[in-house]
Amino acid sequence: MFETRIMREELARHYDLAPSVEAAERQADLFARMDKVLSPVDWAMHAPYVEAINKLKRERGAVILAHNYMTPEIYHGVADVVGDSLQLAIEATRVEAPVIVQCGVHFMAETSKILNPAKTVLMPDMEAGCSLAESITAEGIAEMRAKYPGAPVVSYVNTTAEVKAASDICCTSSNALQIIEALDAETIIMTPDQHLARNVAKASSKRIVWWEGSCIVHEQYTAEEMRAYREADPEVKIIAHPECTTEVTAEADFTGSTSGIIDWIDRERPKKALLVTECSMASNITDAFPDVTFQKPCNMCPYMKMISLEKVLWSLHTMSPEVVVPEEVAIPARRAVERMIELSRSLAKA
Ligand code: 13P
Ligand code: SF4
Repeated sequence: MFETRIMREELARHYDLAPSVEAAERQADLFARMDKVLSPVDWAMHAPYVEAINKLKRERGAVILAHNYMTPEIYHGVADVVGDSLQLAIEATRVEAPVIVQCGVHFMAETSKILNPAKTVLMPDMEAGCSLAESITAEGIAEMRAKYPGAPVVSYVNTTAEVKAASDICCTSSNALQIIEALDAETIIMTPDQHLARNVAKASSKRIVWWEGSCIVHEQYTAEEMRAYREADPEVKIIAHPECTTEVTAEADFTGSTSGIIDWIDRERPKKALLVTECSMASNITDAFPDVTFQKPCNMCPYMKMISLEKVLWSLHTMSPEVVVPEEVAIPARRAVERMIELSRSLAKA
């Protein structure tokens, strides 16, 4: 459990974290990237933390990897690398710094550690989980293998290291279909996201069987809502994440991973885009696309939102909590993640 009071007292002894207009002005260049989604008052509160984190980050030789669902003050203020799950996994293989601070959820930090066993990987809040990662264990994978003998297991990166270790290969939402198509098998087991699997199955000629997990953020959206949005504004482009149900993605103009969403908007430049995904996504990309009006039906991921500037500063200050993956789990898990990265790279070149 996070000891908030102890953390705050200790941080106050070392850093001046009171809201500060001066600190806000000193970092006006950073605020310029988020001034459409944060008020000057918010920035005056965040700026002292951002300044302290960026200074400490350099002293500790740390890089901050942040997922697209982080809050704007993390995404624009302190992150060195931002991206979707695949981009963060790939970047984790390239990091030269001795310390990685993972701003995202626990499975992402585990993936970074699996790929960087000699580095210190810090997770600002160990409780930041994921409904998908929690839905399956290595026993679940064994159950699926017993039910579908010989079928390879493709596990979403949104899984624990133990589940990755029990799988043949990983996938993310940006490469799932290509990975499935590239495997030399007619029946393929996909875990743990039933909706990603159902969305992939719609586009694939293979027989895909799945685990019944789901994302608590994306499964909430309904096709009725989508139809109502479109009826209210026929000009709007509906853009969904593949963790949404197939009924929702059937109503969308585009379905893709968080980086796929950014690429699509960049290419198509719609006047209005309705992002059917986590709340921070639209906030974080507002600055990059000033001509696009974003509409956010906005379901918030309670796990992603456990990561705050305060906890990032605490992590760097204490150099904890550190993610540990036992070697006997890390070795087979690394094989499954590296297989995905290699296959993704070779398919991108082809
Ligand atoms: P991507 O960023 O890979 O699309 O994944 C979304 C997600 O839900 C991560 O938790
Ligand atoms: Fe997990 Fe969904 Fe949150 Fe992503 S958005 S971390 S899949 S619960």
